[in-house]
Amino acid sequence: MQMLSRTLAVVVFAALTAAYSGQIPLGSPQGVSENQDNVPGFHLDLDDLRLVQFSLDAEPEWMTERQKLQAKAKGQDYMDITNTPFLGTGPKKPRFSYPAPNSTIVAGVLSHLSTVEPKANLQHFTSYYTRYYNSDTGKASSDWLFAKILAYTAELASEEQLPLISVESLKHPWKQNSIIVRIAPQDALDSDPITVLGAHIDSINRADPFGGAPGAGDDGSGTVAILEAYRALLVAAYIPITPVEFHFYAGEEGGLLGSQAIASSFEAAGKVVRGMIQFDMTAFHKAGTREEIAVITNEDQVDAALTEFQIQLIERYLDIPWVKDIYPGPPGPSSDQASWAKAGYQTCHPLEGQFKNANSHVHGVEDIIDISPEFSFDHMLHFSRLAVAFAIELSSY
Ligand SMILES: *[C@@H]1O[C@H](CO)[C@@H](O)[C@H](O)[C@H]1NC(C)=O
Ligand SMILES: [Zn+2]
Repeated sequence: MQMLSRTLAVVVFAALTAAYSGQIPLGSPQGVSENQDNVPGFHLDLDDLRLVQFSLDAEPEWMTERQKLQAKAKGQDYMDITNTPFLGTGPKKPRFSYPAPNSTIVAGVLSHLSTVEPKANLQHFTSYYTRYYNSDTGKASSDWLFAKILAYTAELASEEQLPLISVESLKHPWKQNSIIVRIAPQDALDSDPITVLGAHIDSINRADPFGGAPGAGDDGSGTVAILEAYRALLVAAYIPITPVEFHFYAGEEGGLLGSQAIASSFEAAGKVVRGMIQFDMTAFHKAGTREEIAVITNEDQVDAALTEFQIQLIERYLDIPWVKDIYPGPPGPSSDQASWAKAGYQTCHPLEGQFKNANSHVHGVEDIIDISPEFSFDHMLHFSRLAVAFAIELSSY
């Protein structure tokens, strides 16, 4: 078994290397070939026409699902805007400024965080063959996460807290569901500013979307990190003054699909967002480098004011330093915060380390918990701390 998976990993790694250097000819055995049939357990229509935007200021292009997947295999990021072409065309959103962190309760809540539950949760979450958003196992993984959140809520919520919590499993035109967990005060108004914390449920094998994709780092690590933050809010019986929501998005790897659907529904309902933070890759601490949190500053995807506030949270509540970093290469939507930024909401995005030090094993069969001692639940814990601080500081007024 060990040998087999090692051999497989080497083969896929070779395919990935080729993919990143743009050498996969269309129709090669790697990736999606021109005449690829669907595979049992998957539900893609490879001839489906999709409207795809490669950067937030680029003209959208029509292409088939097959071409979309081939672009992904070449390492290109994009938004698939077929179902959400009008995202960002609604009324202008209010701009918030962010007073310095001043909570007296965050420190106490942080004491409830540990690596025990994230480890167990990620062990399970990476046991699916793939969490690809249009596959049966991708759907099963979102069903499991929904059940886990319901179980935490039933088991841990205080009597006063329980009626203030809603947990919703959101159906989409593809197999996998997104999940929205909301804690709102009793007298919440529709106009209250909402604090949003996000991560994505799905994973992908970029070289072969029908292949294995355990997705430990991308983005199992973000998913279980914010789930742990939610667990701590339950244990602490935290009740916000304004609503706080945890979002677990389906279909990020399909072109930010779940987050665009949800951001669109927020926009259509005229909802106000005080700030959105996206956790995508939180576990990798590259050997021989300083342990730090990278604060992403790509201007098209994050808000400068909220990013400065995020830095203040790190300085106040974490004991590792921050460093500013920018996703390199041609501009492309890097994760779900881009959907919210496109809608005009204020966003920020922390990363496990500088991009050059981030987990290079993602997007294939190598993205597992024990790929290397560099995959660290202790490092991930810093992100759960940041999530707790963000949730409480912004929903306490
Ligand atoms: C913290 O700052 C907010 C925003 O300015 C304010 O509304 C709140 O009363 C302050 N809380 C404390 C505990 O000082
Ligand atoms: Zn990701």
